[in-house]
Amino acid sequence: MAQEDLFRKLIAHSKEYGFIFPSSEIYDGLGAVYDYGPYGVELKNKIRKYWWDAMVTMHENIVGLDAAIFMHPDVWKASGHVTAFNDPLIDNRDSKKRYRADSLIEEYLEKLSAKIDKEVEKGRKRFGEAFDEKMFRETNPRVLAQREKFDEIHLRYVQAAEKEDLKELRQIILDCEIADPVSGSRNWTEVRKFNLMFETRLGSVSEDASSIYLRPETAQGIFVNFLNVQKSARMKIPFGIAQSGKAFRNEIVARQFIFRMREFEQMEMQFFVRPGDEMHWYNIWKERRMKWHRNIVNHPERFRFHEHDKLAHYANAAFDIEYEFPIGFKEVEGIHSRTDFDLTRHQEYSGKKLQYFDTESRESYVPYVVETSIGLDRTFLLILSDAYAEEKAPSAEGEMEDRTVLKIHPVLAPVKLAVLPLVRKDGLPEIARKIMDRVRFDFNCQYDEKDSIGRRYRRQDAIGTPFCVTVDHQTTVDQTVTLRDRDTMQQDRIPIERIRELLAEKISFRTLLERI
Ligand code: GAP
Repeated sequence: MAQEDLFRKLIAHSKEYGFIFPSSEIYDGLGAVYDYGPYGVELKNKIRKYWWDAMVTMHENIVGLDAAIFMHPDVWKASGHVTAFNDPLIDNRDSKKRYRADSLIEEYLEKLSAKIDKEVEKGRKRFGEAFDEKMFRETNPRVLAQREKFDEIHLRYVQAAEKEDLKELRQIILDCEIADPVSGSRNWTEVRKFNLMFETRLGSVSEDASSIYLRPETAQGIFVNFLNVQKSARMKIPFGIAQSGKAFRNEIVARQFIFRMREFEQMEMQFFVRPGDEMHWYNIWKERRMKWHRNIVNHPERFRFHEHDKLAHYANAAFDIEYEFPIGFKEVEGIHSRTDFDLTRHQEYSGKKLQYFDTESRESYVPYVVETSIGLDRTFLLILSDAYAEEKAPSAEGEMEDRTVLKIHPVLAPVKLAVLPLVRKDGLPEIARKIMDRVRFDFNCQYDEKDSIGRRYRRQDAIGTPFCVTVDHQTTVDQTVTLRDRDTMQQDRIPIERIRELLAEKISFRTLLERI
């Protein structure tokens, strides 16, 4: 299936099966804002719990926080967001579409890199066993020509981004003959800076009201509470503060479903370390976070690290964890070395000391920070992309039919168990209800008696329910049910009293957490 088709199908599936709806849909929606439906909110809550448990519960030296979305306006001056949280935007005069100039160039570079890989693959096929990839990359004239072009544009781009040279960014777009992906036009405007923060007014009387911002990252709530948390929870460096919550950005380009939203959720952890120790912890967190991701998917090979070309204003080193979505490799999480930038700036702007007294070395210092920052909505999209499959399955009559299934890890699945009486008579619904009453304390389960058993299985497959038990006539005789596994579709006969015990381990967060 073409990747664009897959992406379209994911969006349609998410809506049809109650995962994600466009916001205010009856008014034709609101750009890049989405609502989570009954199964979406369950999945989202479970991803958040997996993150929270892995970061806070499993680490004695990481504690949680839930800071307010509104913060004093000076926070954003100190953090640099008022002056530096900008994207370079460019308009196409013909299509009237708006783009990020940096994204257009990065996509162009991605395509050049893909062309090189394609040449290498051709070489591999041509030379078979004798193929020496390193030598091929160093000597093949077509690869060398593409590489030279890539390096030249890449260097110009990195330098322009660093200096925020908007004219040069436009020149690169013109020199590379980058066309509007929608219309094919090359009729570009100048590049302009665009601040991504949403501004609103605090106060009831308009003359007295002051401008404040909706937070564009949750991290600043952690920085301004650094000493409150450190002292009240008696934390010793190195230690972390974690929180998950809403963030808001007035994104220029918002055409990729929940990948890029204007209102979204982040799960961030700031790890405070002794100055000089930051690279040690940066490398540790990079590996730990990758392990966390690979632990919950069917396709761990779809992840990769990507080192930042263009660093955010607060970072001196940054890696992204990228996943190969149907729209290509994209960032899901950033691991940033933020130095002492934020705490030092908040000291300056607030006039309050934000230092840590190290009882071992008997010195005070402003700690350095390593940050892990993951988007909850992007992780949600990653889980859906990873889980979605169309395949053949045997119908109740034994013929093969199509099924769409979400192979979501059982621990994260919105519904764990469906309880299905084979028919709506002969006392089977009553037994099924009794099973529901027993297990609803332990996991999210669903009762369904409508339609044929095959159609009910299909409905559960589509929302990713890992297990179904069917109550049939044999149940009335020997108190056993069939337990169907979503992925293997195998059905085993088990006693009713073993349902809880058999599922408990498979859906326990413990099984996931023990592996990271
Ligand atoms: N505190 C650092 C920070 O905010 P970031 O790389 O700008 O860093 C971190 O954002 C993560 O937040 C990203 O890796 C992404 O998963 C998520 N994110 C950022 N902007 C987003 C948006 N517009 N929509 C959805 N998720 C977004």
